[in-house]
Amino acid sequence: MPSPLRIGFLGCGYIADFHAAMLADCDEPHVIGDVFDPDGDRRATFAAKWSAHAVGDADAVIERSDAVFVCTWTSEHAEMVRRIAARGRHVFCEKPLAFDAATAASMAAEVRAAGIVDAVGLILRTSPAMLWLREMLRDPVSGRLMNIVFRDDQYIPTQGVYASSWRADPELAGSGALLEHSIHDVDILDWLAGPIVRVAAEQSFFHDIHGIEDSVSAVLRFESGASAVLSSVWHDVLSRPSQRRIEVFCERALYTVEGEFFGPVRWDRDGDAGAMEGVELDGWLKARDIAIAWPESRFLTAIRTGGRATPAFEDAVRAHHIVDAIYRSARAAGTAVAVPTA
Ligand SMILES: NC(=O)c1ccc[n+]([C@@H]2O[C@H](COP(=O)([O-])OP(=O)(O)OC[C@H]3O[C@@H](n4cnc5c(N)ncnc54)[C@H](O)[C@@H]3O)[C@@H](O)[C@H]2O)c1
Repeated sequence: MPSPLRIGFLGCGYIADFHAAMLADCDEPHVIGDVFDPDGDRRATFAAKWSAHAVGDADAVIERSDAVFVCTWTSEHAEMVRRIAARGRHVFCEKPLAFDAATAASMAAEVRAAGIVDAVGLILRTSPAMLWLREMLRDPVSGRLMNIVFRDDQYIPTQGVYASSWRADPELAGSGALLEHSIHDVDILDWLAGPIVRVAAEQSFFHDIHGIEDSVSAVLRFESGASAVLSSVWHDVLSRPSQRRIEVFCERALYTVEGEFFGPVRWDRDGDAGAMEGVELDGWLKARDIAIAWPESRFLTAIRTGGRATPAFEDAVRAHHIVDAIYRSARAAGTAVAVPTA
């Protein structure tokens, strides 16, 4: 029996709790060891819930862990990753890695140079609904991809279950709906149908929070000639904490994702229209040998096997380049901006 991996946590808020719950379902032997959050109540509550040990500073967590989850607000990610890489510990860092692609790229270079396993919380890539959609787009029956309509809406997460004041502070969050939330969407679009080569966008600030945009519309051009429209909005409809709807038009098929993780997904192609969700969707993937492995499990497996975790920092750097290009376009009143593909 290999000895259990000691997992540390930096940040004990909403997403840390989510990862701890997902880790509980991982087969690789592990324990949550030391955790730190400058908020003493939060670290004590988290430690009690997950039978962990609350400590008084980040370096103590890093020193006593084999692998560390970075779940702090975004402004801290780069410094935490630097310290973790310097100690040669494996790292799972939440998205966004940083405020901009240049910083994200230097973080990716640091973890590569340290020879550690790195992973990033771009969790949509492992969702059954997205895995299904990618299979559909690869199926020649669909014909070529033509156009995607991608809507992502969420109440502004300074309230409700997220209740995070830091998301209204550009010094801590970097910016608003696009970087903080819809980096998932540009990552998925590039992963499904990329590379994205050009963008044009508009942004608005309805909540009057300086530096925190709450509405973004972007037109994304793929190298293939297809295009997508991404609408991302942070509203105040408190019954809608987070949901996405994706409509994908191919030459001979329409695919719709209504539930971003477990469906429903719908198709209309080749004289056949239908829908599935939940266990039926899982069964469809399993029948085709498409593994459903959540990011936490992939991370632990990569550590044990010496492999690469996915999605990794390099994947996030690509998403950051697209996000940067969308902001550049929005600041230039919608002028088209090229996205580097190399
Ligand atoms: N992958 C996803 O779908 C997803 C979802 C939500 C949040 N996130 C990301 O996770 C990160 C945290 O978001 P959250 O919703 O958990 O926020 P949160 O406010 O619930 O928790 C963040 C915690 O970080 C702590 N913190 C701040 N500085 C720290 C430091 N130097 N060391 C240790 N802890 C520190 C804060 O005290 C706070 O408790 C953000 O980067 C966010 O973008 C990702």
